Amino acid sequence: MSEVPTIELNDGAKIPQLGFGVYQIEPGETAEATRKALELGYRHIDTAEMYQNEAGVGQGIRDAGIDRAEVYVTSKLNNGFHKPDDARRAFDSTLAELGFDYVDLFLIHWPLPTLYDGDFVSTWQTLEEFKRDGRARSIGVSNFQVPHLERLAKETETVPTVNQIEVHPYFTNDEVRAYGQQHGIATEAWSPIAQGAVLGDQVVQGIADATGKSPAQVVLRWHIQRGDIVFPKSVTPARIKENLDIFDFELSSDDADALTELNKGEKGRTGPNPDSFDYIPS
Ligand SMILES: NC(=O)c1ccc[n+]([C@@H]2O[C@H](COP(=O)([O-])OP(=O)(O)OC[C@H]3O[C@@H](n4cnc5c(N)ncnc54)[C@H](OP(=O)(O)O)[C@@H]3O)[C@@H](O)[C@H]2O)c1
Repeated sequence: MSEVPTIELNDGAKIPQLGFGVYQIEPGETAEATRKALELGYRHIDTAEMYQNEAGVGQGIRDAGIDRAEVYVTSKLNNGFHKPDDARRAFDSTLAELGFDYVDLFLIHWPLPTLYDGDFVSTWQTLEEFKRDGRARSIGVSNFQVPHLERLAKETETVPTVNQIEVHPYFTNDEVRAYGQQHGIATEAWSPIAQGAVLGDQVVQGIADATGKSPAQVVLRWHIQRGDIVFPKSVTPARIKENLDIFDFELSSDDADALTELNKGEKGRTGPNPDSFDYIPS
C-alpha cells in the first residue's frame, strides 16, 4: 500500500491528506475503530466535541501503541461554546477527554451566524489564543461560507489553515472551495462519499468497473486528485482498509471530470446549510 501524501498548511504544518473520520461512531466503539484504523496505516483522526467520542480516540491511539507525535488529531469546538470563556473551558475538556496536552488542529465546528449576535469573530480570536499557547498546533474552521471567511480576513490576524466543508460528487461546493484556493485555506471534504449516497451512481460504478477499484475508492481518489483532505468514516474493518488503498491508481482527467459533472448544486447537499444551521446539543 503506497504512503499517504501530506499537504502543507498555511502555517507550515503538514497534514496527511487522508484520515479516519469518527462521526456517528458510538463512544463505546470508537477506541477499537481508531485502533484498527491505526493498525491498518491511518495516521490522521478527525473527531469533534459534538461526536462525544474524543475519549475513545485518545484510548484507541494509546491502545495502538503508536507515539502521539505520529498521529494527526483534529477536534472541533461544540456549538454551545462560542463565547470566549465557554470556548476556553470546552478546549480544556477536549484535551482532558483525549488525554493529550495538544491537538494538531482545532476547528470552530459551525459558524452559527444566526446565534451569539452573529459573533464568531471573538470565538476565532479565542482559538488564536490556543494556537499561541501551543495547545492547538493549527487552527481552522468548518462549514464557513465565503462571507464568514471574508469577515475573519477583515477583522482578525490569522487566516484559518483549513475549512472543513461538505464536498462530494453530488455537492461540489465550488464557491467556498475556490475562495479557499485563492486565500491559502485548505479544503477538508466532509462526507466524502456522501455517507454512501454516491456509491450506487452509474457513472461512479462504470469508472469502478473500468479501473478495477470499488466505487468508494474511485470517489475518494477523485477528492485526492482535486487536492482536498478527506477522512471517510467506517466501522467495518474491510472498508477501513479499502478506503486507505487509493494511492496505487489514477483517474484519467475524463473520469475525474465525469465525477465532477455529477454535481447537483444545492440539491446535492446532504447536511444542513451553514447559513441557517443553529443546532445546540442539549
Ligand atoms: N465538520 C462537519 O460538520 C462534519 C460533518 C459530517 C462529517 N464530518 C467528518 O467527516 C467524516 C466523514 O463523513 P461522514 O462520516 O458523514 O460520511 P462518509 O465518510 O461520507 O460515509 C460514511 C458512511 O459510508 C459507509 N462506508 C464507508 N466506507 C465505505 C465503503 N468503502 N463502501 C461502502 N460504504 C462505506 C459507512 O458505513 P460503515 O461505517 O457501516 O462501514 C458510513 O455509513 C466524519 O466521520 C467526520 O469526521 C464533519
